[in-house]
Amino acid sequence: MLNFEYYNPTRIVFGQNQLERIPILLKENGAKRVLLAYGQGSIIKSGLYQNLLDQLSDFHVVPFQGIEANPEFTTLMKAVVLCRAENIDFILAVGGGSVIDGVKFISGAVPYSGDPWDVLDTKEGCVFKDAIPFGTVLTLPATGSEANSGAVINRSELEQKRVMGGPMFFPKFSFCDPTQVATLPKRQIANGIVDAYMHTLEQYLTYPTGNLLQERQAEAILATLVEIGPKVIEAPENYELASNLMWCATHALNGVLRCGVPTDWATHMIGHELTAFYGIDHARTLAIIAPRLYEAMFDGKQEKLTQYGKRIWNLTGTDIEIAHKAIQATETFFHALGIDTRISDYTEDYTGVETRIRAVFEKRGWTAMGERQAIDPSRIEAIVAAAI
Ligand code: NZQ
Ligand code: ZN
Repeated sequence: MLNFEYYNPTRIVFGQNQLERIPILLKENGAKRVLLAYGQGSIIKSGLYQNLLDQLSDFHVVPFQGIEANPEFTTLMKAVVLCRAENIDFILAVGGGSVIDGVKFISGAVPYSGDPWDVLDTKEGCVFKDAIPFGTVLTLPATGSEANSGAVINRSELEQKRVMGGPMFFPKFSFCDPTQVATLPKRQIANGIVDAYMHTLEQYLTYPTGNLLQERQAEAILATLVEIGPKVIEAPENYELASNLMWCATHALNGVLRCGVPTDWATHMIGHELTAFYGIDHARTLAIIAPRLYEAMFDGKQEKLTQYGKRIWNLTGTDIEIAHKAIQATETFFHALGIDTRISDYTEDYTGVETRIRAVFEKRGWTAMGERQAIDPSRIEAIVAAAI
């Protein structure tokens, strides 16, 4: 087992009818002037917005509507200006991963004196040193952002999607209410299942390290998602199914799965570029890249692919056959959820995409990715070409 340090201070309040706990937790965190940040309006339609306002009568509440899917830097900067003008001391993020990630950025950018994009651009000496505290009310189980300290921010005019994070960006609390799943479009539920599944695979499909507990925990999430995935898309109002999806998604990226094991994350990093270029939903970019990446990196991942094929898909044959069949089973699972796995399924404008993405990684100097640092720019080009 590899050495590790584990830290996760986020308080999770899980279940339905818990909103009256919000004012208590806000007061515990010293909140007086609260920015209520949300997306394009799903929370108004569902009634959640009004329910929250009813709970927040003791606070000075400043609403900020409009954080879009793949949160945009320019939108978030408007919220930064508003927070400064209103002396906001706490932010409540109400939404999916995009709103929560957007709020992580806002919370770091408000006290930052320079151009916050420099921090995401990893310009030398540019770091967020302080952050406004924030909490979340999760409406879409997918990213795990409600229980981690990372965020991904989009800047369309530069065709860039950048990651940020650090210990200051753990939410103080997150309300995870499975009844929120009932209003989600099928497309977003399928996205959530695939994102959680892929977070687990990124921390599991590497090489064996003898961390038996972590492997079994990852397998528990994978097996649960395989069992409930298609059912929850058909019956999102089923509280038990929705609860299991929500808890799986939180667990898949709350930091536990990476304890003592190598991790990959190259599928995510390549996938982010597909979103930056084409606006393809995050989870769908993962479904496009992962099967091709596993084929390209087959030798290094074969032992874990075989274990995965046996334990999750009950596959039989030689170890090599099982490993190949496990990749096919994964792709078939994505298809069964209604998720296409080719770039050409999403855009006709794919000519040269493999060289464009290769150039991005070369420019950033990200030339050794994956658990063995074996994914170099020529591999990236080949993986993307195979995914067209
Ligand atoms: O904006 P509204 O009107 O709220 O609509 C949203 C949005 O259109 C809608 N929605 C959310 N909850 C709903 C709902 N509609 C009806 N009922 C509800 N209960 O769903 C749409 C998509 O929302 P979004 O937040 O974009 O989805 P998701 O949670 O999948 O987040 C994706 C973003 O998270 C990043 C991705 O890159 C992407 O930008 N990620 C963040 C990570 C992290 N911080 O740890 C890790 C992930 O790998 C990922 O990269
Ligand atoms: Zn993801």
